Amino acid sequence: MPVDYKFLTQEQRDHFLEHGWLKIPNAIQKKYVDEWMADYWTRMDYDEKDPSTWKEEYVKLPRHRDIPVSEFCPDAYKAICDVVGGEDRLDPVRNSMHGDQFIVNNGSEYWEKHDYPPETATGWHTDNDWYRQFLDSGEIALTIIHLFTDIEPRGGGTYICEDGIKAVCQFFLSHREGLDPPFPPETYAHIKNCKVFTEMTGKAGDTFITHVYLPHAASQNHTRHPRVIANPHVTLRAPFVFDREDPADYSLVEQVVLRALGVPRLPAAEYAPTAPRRTYYPRNYTYKAARIQEELERLQAAAVRAGKDPKAVDSVYLKGGKELEEFNKRQGLDRPHGPNKFPEGTRTHIHMQAKRAEDDPVLPM
Ligand SMILES: [Fe+2]
Repeated sequence: MPVDYKFLTQEQRDHFLEHGWLKIPNAIQKKYVDEWMADYWTRMDYDEKDPSTWKEEYVKLPRHRDIPVSEFCPDAYKAICDVVGGEDRLDPVRNSMHGDQFIVNNGSEYWEKHDYPPETATGWHTDNDWYRQFLDSGEIALTIIHLFTDIEPRGGGTYICEDGIKAVCQFFLSHREGLDPPFPPETYAHIKNCKVFTEMTGKAGDTFITHVYLPHAASQNHTRHPRVIANPHVTLRAPFVFDREDPADYSLVEQVVLRALGVPRLPAAEYAPTAPRRTYYPRNYTYKAARIQEELERLQAAAVRAGKDPKAVDSVYLKGGKELEEFNKRQGLDRPHGPNKFPEGTRTHIHMQAKRAEDDPVLPM
């Protein structure tokens, strides 16, 4: 079916094709920014007015609550539908809601006085912590960056590398056996030779829609204004198709890959996976989950201090039952762990030597 664009202007579509990303200003309904930021300081256990209490500089928090994407950020949702080629191409369950799994950069005294230009940044990557990656994998089609605080230049905005897309696409095309996360460093070794870097700055409530193969890296926050974002993903029902009969059927996400590879069409025989597709428990959630209990205790204690019912704290982890089951399914937390699980209790990202999962030759997953 030819893609029927319902929201994006031609200019926005061209921008996505050219740069691999789009900014939707004021995308998030304000009430969610306000409600979810209201207990930020309690979750972090910091005194807002005393930066000396901001013990951890960079932290990824678990998710306690989520909202259907179409309600949370209506314009961004319409843009997402257009970029992936229509709402019917979205997975109706996985990543169908966006939540408050904040990624925080509080800055530090050191980074107030030192620079960190993108050319020197480390940690370049594309997102995937839960499935075997093939060029056509639709498990993550887009990485979304929701801003929950204003982010000025030098305020910790994510770095992206626009001319890094091409070599990432070529890398996965040349690995038709697929790669289990985390990916080897050579996936992003080319970034040191790239030239087009952008810092994702904006206002609280803005949303960036970025292509899954657009490399990005954390910058440093050179201010002492905490930077709070969330990075949910967009999941498709089915893998990308690069071998369509009618060029009008290609989504913008697929077109970015074809342009990067310099071809109008890629025969399926040249990119089809040669090993089974596999999905796992999102490995980064292990270190986010390590914080759930202590956050709940602080949120409940704060509720008591405010004369409120501690059971009314808005967290799916207090609700349990069917709601938690559905929540886990939306995030893939019901999946078995992959071969590179972080040790239980890990509280932050650590480097690990990656192993590949062994495939059952009889029963492909
Ligand atoms: Fe990322």
